[in-house]
Amino acid sequence: MMLAVSGLSAERSGRIILHPTSLNISPGARIGLVGSSGSGKSTLGHALIDDLHAQGRVVAHVPQSPDEALDPLRSMSFHWREAETALGLPHDPARQQHLFKALRIENGDLRKRPWGWSRGMQQRFVIAMALIGSPELIILDEPTSALDPVVAAGTMDLLDSVLDGGTTAMMLITHDLGLAARRVDHLMVMHDGQIVETATTADLLNHPRTQAAKSLSSHRSWLSVPC
Ligand SMILES: Nc1ncnc2c1ncn2[C@@H]1O[C@H](COP(=O)(O)OP(=O)(O)O)[C@@H](O)[C@H]1O
Ligand SMILES: [Mg+2]
Repeated sequence: MMLAVSGLSAERSGRIILHPTSLNISPGARIGLVGSSGSGKSTLGHALIDDLHAQGRVVAHVPQSPDEALDPLRSMSFHWREAETALGLPHDPARQQHLFKALRIENGDLRKRPWGWSRGMQQRFVIAMALIGSPELIILDEPTSALDPVVAAGTMDLLDSVLDGGTTAMMLITHDLGLAARRVDHLMVMHDGQIVETATTADLLNHPRTQAAKSLSSHRSWLSVPC
């Protein structure tokens, strides 16, 4: 079923940081939310999650750094159980094994705390946790910017194959148009707290209309990086 929000907005310290925004997201859609730093991408991501949660929809969020999602004092198995409990789900070893295999973390030692795993494995674990409840939408906010480019590309490849053919929609939030262009079929460009341009990825890259989209797509050196 389509996800729909309307009139999302946000104000901080008397300043509008998100102008009224409405969105529809189809099952299985791959959308990139791009824009320069401070344009309001994370604000929109959070507002979207809050609104969809209030509607009773199942939405998951992957933050920029695994540090934001993982408590350094808790074991990896604790985190997993806690995520299941938060979703009201019983512990399901088969589901866990399936997601661990899909994200290639099946050899990780769950008794360890996050720092006993590499950063790349931690972020794949966080992505696996986000998929526990088979969400209708997974929002990834700069999910690979804390990883080196090769590890980042590998992580996105694994996520692509997990989502492939399923109904979980993906919103990839990034300041990096090159990263988004490789992973999504539609792009939304944010500038100053609003979506100023929406287009298919190919159209936006070839015919950017707004200044915001033009300046993002003018840095074409990103074609040479792997992720
Ligand atoms: N809690 C806050 N208080 C005041 N300003 C904020 C707060 N959170 C975000 N902002 C401002 O809102 C704007 C958008 O921020 P953000 O959504 O984080 O942008 P992005 O994710 O695109 O980098 C920025 O100018 C930022 O400084
Ligand atoms: Mg942000």
